[in-house]
Amino acid sequence: MAQAKRVQVAIVGAGPSGLLLGQLLHRAGIDNIIVELRSAQYVLGRIRAGVLEQTTVDLLDEAGVAARLHREGLIHDGTQMAFGGKRHQINFRKLTGGKTVTVYGQTELTRDLMETRHEEGAPTIYEALDVSVHGFDAKPVVRFHKDGAEHEIGCDFIAGCDGYHGVTRASVPAAAIRTFERVYPFGWLGLLSETPPVSEELIYCNHPRGFALCSMRSPTRSRYYVQCSLDEKAESWTDQMFWDELRRRVDPEAAESMVTGPSIEKSVAPLRSFVAEPMRFGKLFLAGDAAHIVPPTGAKGLNLAEHDVRLLADALIDWYDHGRRDLLDSYSADCLRRVWRAEHFSAWMTAMLHKAPNGDEFDEKLQLSQLRYVTTSRAAATSLAENYVGLDRV
Ligand code: APR
Ligand code: PHB
Repeated sequence: MAQAKRVQVAIVGAGPSGLLLGQLLHRAGIDNIIVELRSAQYVLGRIRAGVLEQTTVDLLDEAGVAARLHREGLIHDGTQMAFGGKRHQINFRKLTGGKTVTVYGQTELTRDLMETRHEEGAPTIYEALDVSVHGFDAKPVVRFHKDGAEHEIGCDFIAGCDGYHGVTRASVPAAAIRTFERVYPFGWLGLLSETPPVSEELIYCNHPRGFALCSMRSPTRSRYYVQCSLDEKAESWTDQMFWDELRRRVDPEAAESMVTGPSIEKSVAPLRSFVAEPMRFGKLFLAGDAAHIVPPTGAKGLNLAEHDVRLLADALIDWYDHGRRDLLDSYSADCLRRVWRAEHFSAWMTAMLHKAPNGDEFDEKLQLSQLRYVTTSRAAATSLAENYVGLDRV
């Protein structure tokens, strides 16, 4: 006999989407439970990106989870584009009337969300096996196994926050969903090290050998990436090989001043663009990576996820507080406008900065012309800047 329980909202997945949704609902007095496949430790072990738009920071403030972010996050006024041996700044603050981004690792944000949830006594079931979702056209139920026992949660709504490989999107009947996808013929090899970042701002590098990115997590911790082939294995790269390749791709000044050291983490990530439409199926709502993926070049993944969550939380609160369903009904379309803008921006940045494996010199010339344009024309630079810091209206 399954152990049965009832909540208003059952959330599948304890990544940044599920945890923030849980927090916003908890604050609004809507009871919710999060069911997560992995352990908390495993979730915190994933190294992901770390650039937050101002609207994401504002949302985290509202959710009451931004104290450490304000102490430790690094505010960036702009970013650097390196090509043809030189570096050029795109100044977000000047081009967008004062907007900036905050560099704060997704791992740290996840930790803050987890700790707050724990302190406030909201329930999360980690290591929930065989999670399945049922009845979302009428009476939703989430089932799972934990410590050998079968559990069942009845609820009003299910939030699918279980990422790209999750179970919620996969449970939707094929005829009810459309997906749009592009897989890129290259990946990113990333390295994390306890070394001071080479530059105060991120450097996005276009180089004939392939893309490179110089990023950071703190004034003493750096995150670097080099474009690699899809079948590359992180284990076959020694730290020295990585640093040598990175130095070849960045501008000479960065190559000269870069401080290297042992890696804390090294991993290969594929690049993908993916959108599922719609994002709502009766009483099941998808949010974050469960519904869409962007290649990381535009630093949009986390921001898009948290934007979905804001709209979903607002819609659920409006339903519970006022019995209004308009926001629930417009949720999918409202999210997808921003999703497609971010898809375009991320694909465009990716195309401008990466070496196409089957590309020719014509492609390289076009990329360099585009890079000169975005670093010399105020209009073109503003377009990049306003997309990077996040648009107010989409
Ligand atoms: N049952 C329960 N939980 C699951 C299942 C399942 N079948 N499958 C996956 N999960 C969990 C994962 O273990 C993970 O902790 O769902 C969570 C999904 O988290 P994320 O993949 O981080 O997705 P999301 O919370 O939407 O965050 C989006 O992550 O990949 C980045 O760029 C992306 O920054 C963005 C953010
Ligand atoms: C990162 O710091 O991991 C990072 C930063 C910017 C990106 C992608 C990744 O565009």
